[in-house]
Amino acid sequence: MTQEPDGPVDWLAHARAAKGFMPEEEGLALHALARERLPHGPVLEVGTYCGKSAIYLGAAAREVGGTVFTVDHHRGSEENQAGWEHHDSSLVDAESGRMDTLPAYRRTVERAGLEDHVVAVVGPSLVVSAHWRTPLSLLFVDGGHGEQPAMDDYEGWAPWVMPGGLLAIHDVFPDPADGGRPPYELYLRALAGGSYVEDRKAVGSLRVLRRTAGAAGDPVG
Ligand SMILES: C[S@@+](CC[C@H](N)C(=O)[O-])C[C@H]1O[C@@H](n2cnc3c(N)ncnc32)[C@H](O)[C@@H]1O
Repeated sequence: MTQEPDGPVDWLAHARAAKGFMPEEEGLALHALARERLPHGPVLEVGTYCGKSAIYLGAAAREVGGTVFTVDHHRGSEENQAGWEHHDSSLVDAESGRMDTLPAYRRTVERAGLEDHVVAVVGPSLVVSAHWRTPLSLLFVDGGHGEQPAMDDYEGWAPWVMPGGLLAIHDVFPDPADGGRPPYELYLRALAGGSYVEDRKAVGSLRVLRRTAGAAGDPVG
């Protein structure tokens, strides 16, 4: 429970109740990263889904100031589609028959009282990143977990982390028995590119790198 000027807001209860794919230990680590970095500039998340991780990030923005952007086309990743492992039929739009996580996201963030702190950007990550020009203090990548979407996210967003800023990557599994390869490959590419170094101990599947070369907007290798 955190004490806010407008009364007590139990954001952690909202995070726990939200639909999504963010274990609490990793969510709390994200919250701490955002608290550390938000005084230096905005935080951007790729992969909103229903807003679970956005609560951990947004609560930090409410506490220390600053803004969190969260990007998603809200149509779900491959594994969220009907017939796949992570499909939730309650998130299918009755008229179109397509996945639509935007209504659930809006409810989640409204209930948590974070609408002034988390800004949803609705669209394909590649299209949004092509127009993005703002240096980021922290980039959290948790979007498409296929090979192409993961590399598109790296190439599109990693250049926009400011010098000294952090790149956090979710679902990094060095052992293929634990999960898919693309987030791990993204992590390896970032380390090999020469612009990022490992910053701290991993928490679960969450890896954190720091930008040590180049300015925001410069290519990252
Ligand atoms: C693993 S989920 C994100 C989980 C979320 N961070 C949480 O805490 O529950 C991945 C999300 O990425 C989105 N996504 C996948 N590919 C995308 C793309 N190319 N552009 C925008 N969003 C994408 C999906 O719609 C999905 O909501």
